Amino acid sequence: MDSTSTMRTEATSRNNVNNGHRACESIASDAHPIAANRIAANPNAANMAQPQDASQAVLEHLYGPIAQALGEIEKQLNEQLQSPYESLVPLLRHGTQLGGKRLRPAMLLLAATAVGQVNQTHVVLGTVIEMVHTATLIHDDVLDEATTRRHVPTINALHDNHTSILLGDFLFAQAFRLTATLDDVQACRWIGDAAKNVCVGELRQVLDRDTIDLDEETYLDILRGKTAELCSVACRMGARHAGGSDEVVDALAEFGNSIGIAFQIADDYLDLWGDDQTVGKTLGTDLEQGKMTLPLIRLLDTCSDEDRDEIVSIITGPSEQRIEKIRPWLDRCDAKQYTSDTATRFQATAVSALDVLQDSAAKECLRAIAKFAVDRRF
Ligand code: IPE
Ligand code: IPE
Ligand code: MG
Ligand code: MG
Repeated sequence: MDSTSTMRTEATSRNNVNNGHRACESIASDAHPIAANRIAANPNAANMAQPQDASQAVLEHLYGPIAQALGEIEKQLNEQLQSPYESLVPLLRHGTQLGGKRLRPAMLLLAATAVGQVNQTHVVLGTVIEMVHTATLIHDDVLDEATTRRHVPTINALHDNHTSILLGDFLFAQAFRLTATLDDVQACRWIGDAAKNVCVGELRQVLDRDTIDLDEETYLDILRGKTAELCSVACRMGARHAGGSDEVVDALAEFGNSIGIAFQIADDYLDLWGDDQTVGKTLGTDLEQGKMTLPLIRLLDTCSDEDRDEIVSIITGPSEQRIEKIRPWLDRCDAKQYTSDTATRFQATAVSALDVLQDSAAKECLRAIAKFAVDRRF
């Protein structure tokens, strides 16, 4: 994520967006597996194809070995989001149809494929993970007052906070119910623990708003809860239900944990330096909401005593002015590089956890996902 690679990647992503118009034209002919899976699960999705589907194409080759099972997860997601009340149907589907990367189910399926074989339990658990993830995003958009997610308006922007809270609750409840159909107490516990820990992470972040002296260790620990838990449990369950030994299951869980931390650090980088059209969600909310992320922590850790007062007055000043005023300060220190290097360090830890696995195409895809988590622009 150095500035040279940023420029290179931004040029690439512009090309991807342009190619995206072509990708959209060919969607109906199944040229695009992720989008085609969605259309198979929900024919109306074809009408909603957007240029952002081109960004999804970046993930296409990483998901190659599990494309069929991912398609089954799309179908299950669609089935889970039904209601006899017609007015609820578009709402239930809104958050799950477009633009989501499906990274957590993909990691679950790739972990399973790298260890053994994908089975129906993986399809159910992948659906569950994506539902829990989507529930947390719908609630997170209320907390962050975000108006765009997955390239479309958030539920809170389209409806209101009440609707978002209830829709998130619906998804949590439905996810736990679906897990229970497996009659596997351990899976229920793992999903329950992971969902709880995401909430703990989000709660800690809310309670730590405007905590200027938040240190890096606490920041990373919050990330472990709010983001890494779900990635970790996805990989853990993928490996366990493919017959992995305790050692392999634990290694895959560590892979997911480190990837999750790297992924969230990259997300916090994008919140400051990303392009909102490419990312497809409201950016700049961390600083507006008083969330101390790694670039700011680094700035405060390295600034002089004289500069500190001015930096603090910007961070605690009028929320709509913070981002523009803080940018020159961030540019003058090594915050960008330091943030990028920290994410890369977690990427390396994730990749080394894969050493327990025999070489395979799925293992290579997991390795590539670890790189994507850090290099991504969306
Ligand atoms: C967004 O996750 C929330 C974070 C943990 C940063 P994703 O970037 O995986 O969201 P979708 O599913 O692709 O929309
Ligand atoms: C991620 O937090 C949300 C969860 C992990 C629940 P962020 O607020 O950083 O995520 P985005 O940037 O809105 O996707
Ligand atoms: Mg957010
Ligand atoms: Mg963010």
